[in-house]
Amino acid sequence: MTQVPPYPTQLAGSSSLLAKYLTKDIFDKLCDKTTANGYTLAHAINSGVQNPDSGIGVYAADEESYDVFAALFDPIIYKYHGHAKEDKHQSDLNSVNLKAPNPDPTGKYILSTRIRVARNLRGVPLGTAIDKDQRDKIARDISAVLCGFTGELSGTYYSLSNMSEADRLSLVGDHFLFKAGDRYLESAGLNRHWPHGRGIFHNTDKTFLVWINEEDQLRIISMQSGGDIARVFERLATAIDMLSTKVQFAYSDHLGYITSCPTNLGTAMRASVHIRLPNLSKKSQELEAIAQIYHLQIRGIHGEHSSCQDGVYDISNKRRLGITEVRCVQDMHDGVVALIKREQELAL
Ligand code: ARG
Repeated sequence: MTQVPPYPTQLAGSSSLLAKYLTKDIFDKLCDKTTANGYTLAHAINSGVQNPDSGIGVYAADEESYDVFAALFDPIIYKYHGHAKEDKHQSDLNSVNLKAPNPDPTGKYILSTRIRVARNLRGVPLGTAIDKDQRDKIARDISAVLCGFTGELSGTYYSLSNMSEADRLSLVGDHFLFKAGDRYLESAGLNRHWPHGRGIFHNTDKTFLVWINEEDQLRIISMQSGGDIARVFERLATAIDMLSTKVQFAYSDHLGYITSCPTNLGTAMRASVHIRLPNLSKKSQELEAIAQIYHLQIRGIHGEHSSCQDGVYDISNKRRLGITEVRCVQDMHDGVVALIKREQELAL
């Protein structure tokens, strides 16, 4: 018999979605449940309990966590994504369906474009709960598949635990290297055995990149300078197709691609540009209003919790679940067109 933990009093005063939805009733209902892999409620909520300033506060340990702890995850997913229990997810990675002519052909505003998706392997615990051998096996298997890629996608794999100083410096210079996770990821279990089993693959042109065993088992990234969003999406879709012929990703009709953090479920996609908007940056309300209309998220360019510097923003899709990948990129594209139009008007 596992011992039932007490209700986490640390949640009093927290404004996370965990604190909002983990009522005493729900806690009592879930506290003695485990997934087939042996993961518990304590596992799912530890990050939010240890970090009361979390926005969300929960992570899944495996695909089954989303079912076993549905009484907690479902309302969080509904609040964050507006995706109800009976709603289905749909995938569309066909670049023909995307209408995204470069919004900035002269390169005045858009510095670069980047689209990533997260993926995890079917039947393997997520990074929050995976053991060292399972993690190492993923790194070996996926890097072998990637090293077999040819043409534009062919490149080199770098293991974080044994790379040369020269390679390290070069990856740092390109901003490709990922660091150990922050305290939210730490208490979710995602930094265990760091840096073992972690690695980076990139193609020769540095336009295609895969992070292995970061927050998700795979983060597949396509990027290039300038605003050719369609080209970036097309390259990403090709890479995903190629990987999908070799490995099976965890996917459900309801939640789409399964990720460790519920914010990434569905398409698991973040499509973004780095864009210079010096005039709009002085009108934050207008910027916010446009972002709202086109479902955009606005950040600084130095990562998830950074703020804007010198009028340069990281603009991305906010919606991810219950809409297709094409729609995510279309949201971002159409929003960027609107932002540039307003920026130009303000410059007159
Ligand atoms: N767990 C953190 C929170 O609840 C981050 C959530 C979203 N970010 C992420 N990298 N998954 O605030």
